[in-house]
Amino acid sequence: MKLNENTILIGEKVALVPYRAEHVPKYHEWMKSPFLQEMTASEPLTLDEEYEMQRSWHLDEDKLTFILTALPEDSKEALKEMSDTSVKDKTVMIGDVNIFLNDPDQDRTFGEIELMIAESAFRRTGRGYEAIKIMMGYALEMLGFKTFHAKISLKNEPSINLFKSKFGFYEVSRSEVFQEVCLEWTLLSPPTEPRMDEYGNKIEVYGSKATADDRAKIAEVSKELLTYYKSVKGGKYE
Ligand SMILES: CC(C)(COP(=O)(O)OP(=O)(O)OC[C@H]1O[C@@H](n2cnc3c(N)ncnc32)[C@H](O)[C@@H]1OP(=O)(O)O)[C@@H](O)C(=O)NCCC(=O)NCCS
Repeated sequence: MKLNENTILIGEKVALVPYRAEHVPKYHEWMKSPFLQEMTASEPLTLDEEYEMQRSWHLDEDKLTFILTALPEDSKEALKEMSDTSVKDKTVMIGDVNIFLNDPDQDRTFGEIELMIAESAFRRTGRGYEAIKIMMGYALEMLGFKTFHAKISLKNEPSINLFKSKFGFYEVSRSEVFQEVCLEWTLLSPPTEPRMDEYGNKIEVYGSKATADDRAKIAEVSKELLTYYKSVKGGKYE
């Protein structure tokens, strides 16, 4: 979407920058990896298709995309003390984080969130965790989001762990066909009476599968996210 086309969000360990054409060659290299294809349930694209995808995502109001960057491991600098231009010049691409606004009834407070730390040297260093904190903070605070889903390959235990243990996502469905699990996080309370469609079938609403413990954890996490988001340095990505 165009909303974040010049937005840079700077945390302690990662910066989120808009996905631009200059990022495409590296992104394309990453996605040749069979491991990353499997973990992210992605099909390989040609370089031209990848450029086309970047262009269309930029214009698509249902796709909020950021590239994740970080300082090289030997850097002694601190991201938050750097100017926006230095962050742009001195960081390297390590992954991406996206939200797709794909609610079937066009609920603009719902999005499917995904994360990839493509550079293995940068995994397990807290960067994926921080990237999701920044992205959820941005979506809650700036876009009024209430609900997130994360669809994750059953083989991707690290990612399932991250969303469940760090943020309180809970499972709402599992597809043996696609070999993936759907996790949910919502601020919404389900209606006291179940909602039915015209045929008398129960309509699944966000939050209806959350337990009291899930809701308590999410209430706590949402407060932490909003407090944390205040410490994120926003800037302009030229
Ligand atoms: C899965 C992935 C997103 C996690 O990001 P990360 O930056 O490596 O993870 P973090 O260091 O921020 O860890 C945060 C939490 O995630 C979970 N986690 C991360 N890596 C894990 C692993 N190898 N095994 C188990 N849990 C793991 C843990 O709960 C961890 O918290 P802890 O360190 O307190 O135990 C990242 O490793 C990745 O992109 N891997 C390859 C591609 C992929 O699997 N993409 C996901 C597609 S949806």
